[in-house]
Amino acid sequence: MGIVFDREKNTFTLTTKNTSYQMQIGPLGYLLHLYYGRRAEGCFDYLHLKRDCGFSPNPYELQNDRGWSLDTMPQEYSGANGGDFRLSSLDAETARGQRGADLRYVSHEIRAGKYALEGLPAAFDRGDECRTLSITLADKTSGLQVELLYGVFAEQDVITRAARIVNRGDAAVRLYKAASVCLDLPFGEWELLHFHGRHTLERQPERRPLMDGIQSVASKRGASSHQHNPFVILCEPDTTEDAGLCFGVMPVYSGNHRTDIELDQSGSVRVVSGINSEGFSWLLEPGQHFDTPEILLTCSVSGLAPLSHTYHRFIRENVCRRYIPLAERPILLNSWEAMYFDFDEDKLLGLARETKELGVDMLVIDDGWFGHRDDDHTSLGDWFPNTRKLPHGFDTLLNKITDMGLKVGLWVEPEMVSEDSELFRAHPDWALRVPGRQPAISRNQLVLDLSRGEIVDWLFETLSGLLSGLPISYIKWDMNRHLTDLHSAALPADRQGELAHRYVLGLYDLMDRLTRAFPDVLFEGCAGGGGRFDAGMLAYCLQIWCSDNTDPIARLTIQYGTSFGYPVSAVGAHVSTVPNHQTGRTTPFGTRATVAMAGTFGYELNPAKLTAEEKAEIRRQLERFRALRTLIGEGEYYRLTEAGKGRFTAWQQVSPDQGETLVSLVLTQPEANPKPLHLKLKGLDAESVYTLQAADFYGCNADMPALRLSGAALMYAGVTLPIMLGNTPSMQMIWKKSE
Ligand code: GLA
Repeated sequence: MGIVFDREKNTFTLTTKNTSYQMQIGPLGYLLHLYYGRRAEGCFDYLHLKRDCGFSPNPYELQNDRGWSLDTMPQEYSGANGGDFRLSSLDAETARGQRGADLRYVSHEIRAGKYALEGLPAAFDRGDECRTLSITLADKTSGLQVELLYGVFAEQDVITRAARIVNRGDAAVRLYKAASVCLDLPFGEWELLHFHGRHTLERQPERRPLMDGIQSVASKRGASSHQHNPFVILCEPDTTEDAGLCFGVMPVYSGNHRTDIELDQSGSVRVVSGINSEGFSWLLEPGQHFDTPEILLTCSVSGLAPLSHTYHRFIRENVCRRYIPLAERPILLNSWEAMYFDFDEDKLLGLARETKELGVDMLVIDDGWFGHRDDDHTSLGDWFPNTRKLPHGFDTLLNKITDMGLKVGLWVEPEMVSEDSELFRAHPDWALRVPGRQPAISRNQLVLDLSRGEIVDWLFETLSGLLSGLPISYIKWDMNRHLTDLHSAALPADRQGELAHRYVLGLYDLMDRLTRAFPDVLFEGCAGGGGRFDAGMLAYCLQIWCSDNTDPIARLTIQYGTSFGYPVSAVGAHVSTVPNHQTGRTTPFGTRATVAMAGTFGYELNPAKLTAEEKAEIRRQLERFRALRTLIGEGEYYRLTEAGKGRFTAWQQVSPDQGETLVSLVLTQPEANPKPLHLKLKGLDAESVYTLQAADFYGCNADMPALRLSGAALMYAGVTLPIMLGNTPSMQMIWKKSE
């Protein structure tokens, strides 16, 4: 396993537990991609036959050899404006207007450990897990060099990739495109599985065969977005949860991203992923370099479930910089749906007392505690307490809450500014806007120019002041609008194309400094719910509010889609009140908890409005979650059904030692005279015997007999559930391996 360079064949072979990845320095120094897939030995250049393809040009040096074209050979990092008409990976322009890139091999280096990227989050090595391969390619005309970086995490089956573009010439060069990854899949049939949506309906999966031509998954909103999550999967048509080949492409990036997938005239597929090149340009002076964001690649040879498991583990262990197991994180109650902006000191203290009485660990004070904010028109940027609502000072209030034995969390939205704020009055030029044009308003707010170091410094000082002066254990970091009017007062005219990426670098710098300065504070990401749910944010935030939609039935598909790439431990999920504030739907209390237990679990309601039975139910839910949260947070997650299809949605968590499993099911379409409900479990030890510890039904009257079954019986014959009648009832079953 690891990285091998074969001098005779000129191949680089990257081997992980289950996969092989191979490249070759081909004719004229072009770096060819030979193979990525199930682990296999050999040199795979025999696959790529020379052939004359009409209208595919040949390199000048090979003019008599019409059988070899950049347009037909699989490339490792494609150039532009040369002989390859497919997707380019790098496109640059010199001061003399020489446009494109012709990249040839120069040298390589294999070293222990993981490469780092400047200013960008990236996967890390916990000690002897990773080896780095760096291959340098050069474009003679511009003087640009590209260092292709590969991090081989052999045990984890993950290959990370990024590119460092270095200007070795003596004049500035402008980059128009600098992709992180180019991956050619020359053979086979492929389907694209991607995750699209909108505010309150994030990450809806869509799987469809590739069409001839280019299809894209992209955002130019300045954030990874609700609309198109950057994570995509390519799979063979017959790939299922448990069988078949599939590839994952996961950008560790939170800004404008783009993954283009091209099915070309030869039936070959090219995937190019990285920063969205629309609106992007970057001026590289001599001696300077540009690092692209990292992409986490994995290939599963046995279906989608193992692909997800690989990402879940890898994000927890090699991306989250300071992973805290779910069992050690506080269970919270959030004031947003409980009170929205309508609170003051007394109301918050009342909410805190109720929260404590229920046995919840932390009260999160959401939007509305600062400046003079009573609605979403004012005060973003004024990160000091609202003295009208909190007349005795913030520290008095927070100390009173912590004296009750509760932790305190606080909502902030640091990247934004309201026009009605002290900050905006003092620094109107800190907001993004094009001179001479009124900026677009979204949720009544503007965006601070995080590309500017002094603004990032100011935010660091301001937030550090809050965190060091007050007993705050948790920060909910929100971002409630997207970037428009991209123009920075601090950048020269010929560098405005750098702004969107510089904004993300500023954000990462701020998060990096804050998380290092306050290692005991838990940061939760949020962007109008799950609008920035990506591996970049997960480097700093252990969890991300998955959606502003807290309706458990809507959450089934949102959390299902999220589960393909991201671990349960990252999914912010709360029980809220009924009728649900987003959909108006009423669901059983237990069903809301069943669904929130496929995430970090917490509450988003006002306990003062609950009945005694509901409060007793909350205590039972907390007990259940506390007993199971290691299994929930760090167990293997299996999708048992396709959410949103059929009568019910079911999923399962299995402890890493296969000793215990939680099976959850929500019946979304109850029927009269129903067909039997039947489920086959997954991930158990076939040889062991499991005992049913609990079978709890919510929103219906049903019961299960005592059962003791082998893992094989549970997985291959399955279990039949009793009839469940009612409005969206649900069920949780716990099975434990018998000694
Ligand atoms: C966003 C968040 C919500 C809440 C509000 C407050 O929409 O997703 O959870 O914090 O902002 O304004």
